[in-house]
Amino acid sequence: MTQDSQIVSVDLDAPTHDLDRLIGSLETGSVLHVPTLPFQLTPDERASLDPAHAVKGRKNISLPPAGTALIGVEPADPAHATLLGLVTRYANAARLWIDTLFPHYRAHLIAAPTSLRLHRVETRHTSWRKDDSRLHVDAFPSRPNQGERILRVFMNINPHGEPRVWRVGEDFETVARRFLPRLPRQWPGSAALFNALGITKRRRSRYDHIMMHLHDAMKADMAYQRSCAQITLPFAPGAGWICFSDQASHAVMSGQFMLEQTFFLQPQDMAEPERAPLAILQRLAGRSLI
Ligand SMILES: [Fe+2]
Repeated sequence: MTQDSQIVSVDLDAPTHDLDRLIGSLETGSVLHVPTLPFQLTPDERASLDPAHAVKGRKNISLPPAGTALIGVEPADPAHATLLGLVTRYANAARLWIDTLFPHYRAHLIAAPTSLRLHRVETRHTSWRKDDSRLHVDAFPSRPNQGERILRVFMNINPHGEPRVWRVGEDFETVARRFLPRLPRQWPGSAALFNALGITKRRRSRYDHIMMHLHDAMKADMAYQRSCAQITLPFAPGAGWICFSDQASHAVMSGQFMLEQTFFLQPQDMAEPERAPLAILQRLAGRSLI
């Protein structure tokens, strides 16, 4: 796959979509770029985009599925109702876009919390492991997923004309082939121990172990970060982008004000489960990983 094919442009207003091509691009790890999402902010919503509304120390403001209050904004904050309205509208819109573009997934998607990010990307100071300006695939230390897919719908809502800039790296199999030989082995009993200690919410499978270490190994290798095949993409205000973030190698470089909706999907509910990171890693490892 060439770097250019890692990005596929989608016009949501097109009268018809080539659904097979779209799902094929998504499932092979491309980032689908929607230059203009049919989603407008009201003047009140735009005026409420201020990091001062985020509870100190939180990266995200979030709304659980079907939730009625935001996490990360004080209930007494005068902007709470406006921001809640914005995030709720986005959750509903993102579901509609995914249902339209990927009807194959409709009966199988599990909605995760919707998030609103008010902070500027460039000024976040964090450890290398949490530094999302380094290319990585998503894997959550406290939430082993045993191969479940992470589908994300992002939108840049910057009201000042600023793009949100991403880098997109190599396709998943290329990344996996490069790093797999260097990853530490999971020591016997560690999965049960982490579970018993409450460190993980579910049992950490071999798949989860590999994905966590893949995430870390990519971020730790600065030579790889500089030299691997990659492209830089500025997503303009009003644009959206959709990807399986457990598969598409990505890094966020700059920007401020973004909405994001996550969905979970079991790999067997993909159009072609053989394209999932789980299947790719099992093929490369030559054994079952869950
Ligand atoms: Fe990420």
